[in-house]
Amino acid sequence: MKKIKNKIVVITGAGSGIGRSLAIKLYQNGAKLALNDFNENALKETIKLIGSKSEIYTEIFDVSNKEDFDQFAKNVIQHYKKVDIVINNAGITNGNSSASETTMEAYNKVLGVNLWGMIYGTLAFLPELRKQKESSVVNLSSIMGVLGTPYQSVYSTSKFAIRGFSEALAAEELCNKTGVIVTCVHPGGIKTNIVRNIEGQNLSEEQLKKLDAHFPTTADQTADKIIYAIQKKKTRIVIGPDAKFIYFLSRFSHRLSMKYLVNWAKKLMKI
Ligand SMILES: NC(=O)c1ccc[n+]([C@@H]2O[C@H](COP(=O)([O-])OP(=O)(O)OC[C@H]3O[C@@H](n4cnc5c(N)ncnc54)[C@H](O)[C@@H]3O)[C@@H](O)[C@H]2O)c1
Repeated sequence: MKKIKNKIVVITGAGSGIGRSLAIKLYQNGAKLALNDFNENALKETIKLIGSKSEIYTEIFDVSNKEDFDQFAKNVIQHYKKVDIVINNAGITNGNSSASETTMEAYNKVLGVNLWGMIYGTLAFLPELRKQKESSVVNLSSIMGVLGTPYQSVYSTSKFAIRGFSEALAAEELCNKTGVIVTCVHPGGIKTNIVRNIEGQNLSEEQLKKLDAHFPTTADQTADKIIYAIQKKKTRIVIGPDAKFIYFLSRFSHRLSMKYLVNWAKKLMKI
């Protein structure tokens, strides 16, 4: 999809980080936006930053609620008459927690938002996307969806599942010769509010700043790579020097990449 101008783009979790950068940049490229977040003030701030003169469709709801997502899809299609690009970006983490100590509540919550939210979003818009000559679904996985990461078990589980779903769907759309390209995105550490947004997190500002230093890529750089991937019809992108290193190391040697991640986790746990 070469041109973004006049394309109807849906973005979930557009109130912060990568979703916000995507909304601003896609708007600047002439796209018409349908934005979601469950944080109303955050989404209002995004709209303010876009500085839009034309109307932007917004809805406040939790992506883990299927009925709300289906209704949103109906409303967006009724409003714009079509949809070209759907970016399932909304996501959360529950912070550092081992597989055995993570509560069932945390498993359900993270999988509800990251995995089910992405499945609901994709399936709600897929029939409409298939009507277009070319269209795009972008799902935010992570480098933690390529290599299981210690003390991130539920997050890693959700991001592996996003990759499995996205790759299967991408191949199915190819089989059926539809115009839908499915892109699975694997960023490394991106400087956003994802850690600050962890429910009940009690890190000091100093600890948060130290953590930020381990996140080498900005949300704007990430948004640029995602837009380029949509234009080039890429089905997989790995973003950031840390993610690329882990991606290639994991293909070279699983044992070495696990060792690398154990050391990485030990360093972060000390912060
Ligand atoms: N920041 C990173 O290092 C990183 C790395 C790899 C992947 N990702 C993924 O990128 C995506 C965007 O994350 P980010 O880093 O920009 O985080 P962020 O916390 O800055 O932004 C996420 C946005 O999603 C919204 N959101 C959360 N739960 C929601 C829900 N249930 N319904 C609707 N909106 C909801 C939040 O309110 C927030 O505005 C996520 O899927 C995340 O897992 C982030």
